[in-house]
Amino acid sequence: MRNLDIHSHFEEFQDIDELSKNDRELFKRAVEARDRAYAPYSRFSVGAAVRLENDLIITGNNQENAAYPSGMCAERVAVWSALSQYPGTKIEKIFITARSEKKQVNRPVSPCGSCRQTLAEYEIKQEQSIEVFFTGETGIILKAISVRDLLPFMFDNTLI
Ligand code: THU
Repeated sequence: MRNLDIHSHFEEFQDIDELSKNDRELFKRAVEARDRAYAPYSRFSVGAAVRLENDLIITGNNQENAAYPSGMCAERVAVWSALSQYPGTKIEKIFITARSEKKQVNRPVSPCGSCRQTLAEYEIKQEQSIEVFFTGETGIILKAISVRDLLPFMFDNTLI
């Protein structure tokens, strides 16, 4: 037996002002999307904004359902919306933010496992890393320079 240590790298920003103008714009679009979420059951609104290589920004938010599993996360709404409209276009980055009506979300909200796997599919397909920014309503912003940092041992299509 030998131990394998997996290393993930993240950049931490104390404030939105530390980001580039381009990334601040993406953040703003994610916040706007978040505030349009349909989240009457969890009261937890998530917004995601995707920047494509053609510089277009496509947004999404969580869409809940009375039959709970029929709902969908903000990240997948954004990514699938983007790639259904612009198939074959590379995703450069995604910005995720969230807000709760029940308590203050003051630490970064990272994408769920299924959203990570969805992002992984496109990162592998496009052969270019996707930057993932995630934050709460307040507090620090974290940035992964690749989905691999968020999903070590990702399932990939070369296995099937
Ligand atoms: N949610 C997202 O939109 N993205 C995530 O990565 C985690 C969770 C949504 C799903 C549900 O509508 C609400 O947040 C509470 O789980």
